[in-house]
Amino acid sequence: MLELDAAVLKNEQVSSSFFVLTLECAELPNVSPGQFVQVRCRDANENAPFLRRPFSVMDQRGSEIDLVYKVIGPGTTHMSRLRTGGTVSILGPLGQGFPSRPNSESKTLIVAGGTGLGGIYYLAKSLAAQKQSVEILYGVRFRHEIASSLLDRLGVPYQVVVEDEHGYMTDKGLPERILSEYDRCCICGPTPMMRAVADYVSEAIPAVEVSLEEMMGCGFGICYTCPVKRSDSELFYGACYDGPVFQYESIAL
Ligand SMILES: Cc1cc2nc3c(=O)[nH]c(=O)nc-3n(C[C@H](O)[C@H](O)[C@H](O)COP(=O)(O)OP(=O)(O)OC[C@H]3O[C@@H](n4cnc5c(N)ncnc54)[C@H](O)[C@@H]3O)c2cc1C
Ligand code: FES
Repeated sequence: MLELDAAVLKNEQVSSSFFVLTLECAELPNVSPGQFVQVRCRDANENAPFLRRPFSVMDQRGSEIDLVYKVIGPGTTHMSRLRTGGTVSILGPLGQGFPSRPNSESKTLIVAGGTGLGGIYYLAKSLAAQKQSVEILYGVRFRHEIASSLLDRLGVPYQVVVEDEHGYMTDKGLPERILSEYDRCCICGPTPMMRAVADYVSEAIPAVEVSLEEMMGCGFGICYTCPVKRSDSELFYGACYDGPVFQYESIAL
């Protein structure tokens, strides 16, 4: 884990709700799909918001990384005001990402909702680069939220489910698929959506992995504000250091 000042290369609005922040951070080690960084969301002379905010590394290309984010509060409002030429302090890479399964026969269904796109984008890109079969099912609440440019440039087959028009992914998207054809399902998005999708696919797909976007304090194991109940005992995992990616069966989500 490194703390570094990254140069802002671009901060682009890609749909009505989403922005992509592109940072130059040559010293950042290689990031595994599903890992995240903690972003300081204030200027050096300000005190608030005090805590850094966690964001999945959506993509890494050499010395550049992309973060996709939605403006929901003071931290992300600060991010939306970053301009090319500025700097931002990041800490990372953090957490345990999606386990590597180098099986060219593998067929993975990736399911993401809203900002969960950040958690699965690099995974989809990496699996496609390994010539593995991968498809994305992506859910948004409203049509104007779809970041088509991001999905198109990924070059992976995808289907968008718009909740306002089609209902939930368990109503459209999942029922049209023969789930037993997949051997892995990776999910990232709001917790109720992840739970519903994971329950839906678990009977048919042997490996179901979820990437949690729970709220976090430190992001690296010292504050204990990110407990995740284990399914096999009364004990807890820490979302930031044991996760954010977990086998669905190993936790009580
Ligand atoms: C591992 C991880 C990866 C993440 N990746 C992304 C990403 O790629 N893109 C992205 O847009 N967001 C991501 N998030 C969520 C992101 O960290 C929050 O949106 C951000 O911290 C909000 O900061 P804020 O100061 O703007 O809003 P805050 O003032 O912190 O929050 C505004 C409101 O949203 C609620 N809220 C804040 N964070 C969360 C959360 N995680 N879950 C549910 N409710 C919340 C707060 O309770 C509050 O009501 C990720 C979170 C985690 C833990
Ligand atoms: S966020 Fe501090 S221990 Fe996990």
